[in-house]
Amino acid sequence: MYKIAVIGGDGIGPEVVREGLKVLEAAAAKTEVRYDLAYYDLGGEQYLRTGEPMPDSVLDELRDFDAIYLGAVGHPEVAPGILEKGLLLRIRFELDQYINLRPVKLYPGVETPLRDKGPEEIDFIIVRENTEGLYTGMGGIQYKGTPQEVSTQIHMTTRFGAERCIRYAFDYCRERNRAKKLTLCAKTNVLTFVHDTWWRAFNEVGEADYPDIERDYAHVDATTMWMVKNPEWFDVIVTDNMFGDIITDLGAMIQGGLGVAAGGNINPHGVSMFEPIGGSAPKYTGLNVACPVAAIGAAQMLMETLGEIDTAQRIERGIERALSSGEIKSLAAGRMGMSTSEVGDLIAGYAGE
Ligand code: IPM
Ligand code: MN
Repeated sequence: MYKIAVIGGDGIGPEVVREGLKVLEAAAAKTEVRYDLAYYDLGGEQYLRTGEPMPDSVLDELRDFDAIYLGAVGHPEVAPGILEKGLLLRIRFELDQYINLRPVKLYPGVETPLRDKGPEEIDFIIVRENTEGLYTGMGGIQYKGTPQEVSTQIHMTTRFGAERCIRYAFDYCRERNRAKKLTLCAKTNVLTFVHDTWWRAFNEVGEADYPDIERDYAHVDATTMWMVKNPEWFDVIVTDNMFGDIITDLGAMIQGGLGVAAGGNINPHGVSMFEPIGGSAPKYTGLNVACPVAAIGAAQMLMETLGEIDTAQRIERGIERALSSGEIKSLAAGRMGMSTSEVGDLIAGYAGE
């Protein structure tokens, strides 16, 4: 019996999570995977009521689950940074979810803005470092509001942090067993300190322990270019936190949009958290028009990470069949030709067959 914490969060989060859970239930009914859900009321509304993004006691409770399923974080009435730092990044950091795993996979039946590219060409995965880099909040502002204002935001990098992420990516690449090619995406020509650490870790680890994996390198600017021009060149990409944030949004677009892009915040030895990578989309809140496919994909990744491969495959088959059925007109919010819950019903039907 698994224990899963559910944080619907802000905006469309609760709506899409509901559909993810619907599909999970349909798949798990067939595979007899059993789980208990515990719902947590966190997000902007909760913060506006209490003045606290997340009580310490909740964080401690989250440590005891097998996995966390998250909808979205971000509220128009809350200043930028508060919920991100106080909730999302806090969970990632404190539960040491040091990998952010984001597949870029174009399903048959889904439209990509890339002309002449199809499911054969767009199928790779991005391993984003998730606890360091520009995200730690190190740095500060001095003389704020004066002409002498000085601000720094430190790109905190440890050999330990870079290396464990790189090792995860090599392992993932080996297990994926496709082109067996790992691309390091960095900016070694400018970030000559932090990315030198990454570069040496990448090559030393690769040479010593992964002779079967081809090592490839691309600067981040070139990476964005190749992702559009030649996405088929990529198998697994490993990158730092900030670059990973940016290139995974590009990845989301080439696989059909934020409506399909799922991700996992993974602690390989602890509690992981799964989420659609799009935001809370406030303007669509409560309208039952948001695309739930990304959230359903996140539920699939959750099951995969728990080792429940049959259940994960059922969910993926459900997604694949629904998308190739032609019944869903588009994956853009409001243009699906059906509602959020109808898309959930459709996929749940296939997943439970
Ligand atoms: C993401 C989001 C977050 C990030 C924000 C909400 C802090 O953009 O998950 O990609 O930058 O990591
Ligand atoms: Mn992002």
